[in-house]
Amino acid sequence: MENTRNINEIEAAKQLDIINELKAMYDIEYEKTKIIKTYHIETFGCQMNSRDSEKISGILRQIGYKETDTEDADFVLYNTCTVRENANNRVFGRLGYVGKLKKSRPGMLVALCGCMMQETTAVDKIKESYPFVDIIFGTHNIFKLAELIKTRLDNEKTAVKQSDKMVIDLWKDTEMIVENLPNERKYSFKAGVNIIFGCNNYCSYCIVPYVRGRERSRSPKDIIDEVKALAADGVVEVMLLGQNVNSYGKNLEPRVTFAELLREIEKIEGIERIRFMTSHPKDLSQELIDVMRDSKKICKHLHLPLQSGSSRLLKIMNRKYTKEDYLDLVDRISKAVPDISLTTDIIVGFPGETEEDFLETMDVVRKVNFDSAFTFLYSKRTGTPAATMDNQIEESVAKERFERLLAEIQSLSSLSAGKDEHTVQKVLVEEVNSQDENLLTGRLSNNMLVHFPGDKSLIGQIIPVYLEESKGFYYIGSQVW
Ligand code: 5AD
Ligand code: SF4
Repeated sequence: MENTRNINEIEAAKQLDIINELKAMYDIEYEKTKIIKTYHIETFGCQMNSRDSEKISGILRQIGYKETDTEDADFVLYNTCTVRENANNRVFGRLGYVGKLKKSRPGMLVALCGCMMQETTAVDKIKESYPFVDIIFGTHNIFKLAELIKTRLDNEKTAVKQSDKMVIDLWKDTEMIVENLPNERKYSFKAGVNIIFGCNNYCSYCIVPYVRGRERSRSPKDIIDEVKALAADGVVEVMLLGQNVNSYGKNLEPRVTFAELLREIEKIEGIERIRFMTSHPKDLSQELIDVMRDSKKICKHLHLPLQSGSSRLLKIMNRKYTKEDYLDLVDRISKAVPDISLTTDIIVGFPGETEEDFLETMDVVRKVNFDSAFTFLYSKRTGTPAATMDNQIEESVAKERFERLLAEIQSLSSLSAGKDEHTVQKVLVEEVNSQDENLLTGRLSNNMLVHFPGDKSLIGQIIPVYLEESKGFYYIGSQVW
């Protein structure tokens, strides 16, 4: 453990040296041109990618780039997702566009990172069809970005062909978690904190374990130190991130549970709200339910992916729980934390899904009455066990079921919306409303949005708001004085 730590510290120091070297070089260029180089990041996919993009921003800013909101920039990066096929297609679409832009912008650098880059077929296609791409890296080595930029700039001087200039650095498996590099935060008052990387679950439809690697938990000390530093910097809400936060600590010596980690974070002064994402139902312990029940800071929201309500399909999906286990879990959580808001993910059209299996999913949806549900059409991912199952569902059948599920979820949520109407609730004020600048937008503990008139100086504060009217997905409110 100590040895790994030393190696990580040496790596961090090396990266900081390269960041400073590039900065010195860019400073000299600036003295001549008086132009600050710009960067633009486009992030696809989940909250883990959003957090990675913040870290990438931190490195780029430290080098001397400033952010811009279009792809007409000196450095453009796509942080990709590959969980479903259409995520890949969107990236290829953007590459077509940026390739044309690059022709009129000498010196522009185009980089790609994230889950899609961990797939050999995707990288082969990029090398073949988009040779103008400058840098490709994956999910394990974002801390190396400055080194990769430097290598690309060095290649400019030595490479004979365009294809020799491309820098590709992909790691399959690593224990490495490099701490203490420059870091960015999108919001001053709330922050995502990684607690565990990777996933060991191998759900049979899912590509994540192949692209993000095995589970690696950060040490409790590193996490606590980061949260303390965030609190000192004015952060009031943290979102603990991992593909499966409930597996936290299993590979640590001594072992620490996620519930124990939460208890420690709860003690940190200044932190008012704690969220976490995502929980696998099979690993959600009674200990965690007890901590949620007793906590003053853990938000009243749990994202608990169901995937399917059919025990038969759940077994083939390798989810390791049954419909009854899931319903029992929901029952125990709802009793312990009565005002909890439950949200979920559901896949429709998994290979072999029968009408009966689908009706089991509809049954769970009705029984649990989720506050919201993200529904996905099954997407075949090469390399996963489900991709080679010979009973793939016809698209028309899957789409028809998908529509029925969506309609059911919408009608259920319109019936149960507005549970908190005419009550006063605490709201973390997040931003000026994007549609109406006289309104502020904030979130309740259960993650529901609230819009209310107010001054932007309230952003970042937790204040009481009277919820006047429910509009389904959000409330209209007024500040309580
Ligand atoms: N097809 C459709 N949806 C998928 N998900 C993961 N893999 C696939 C796939 N192959 C969904 C799951 C997961 C969410 C992040 O994406 O519901 O919880
Ligand atoms: Fe994918 Fe399953 Fe891991 Fe979630 S728990 S990331 S669905 S393999």
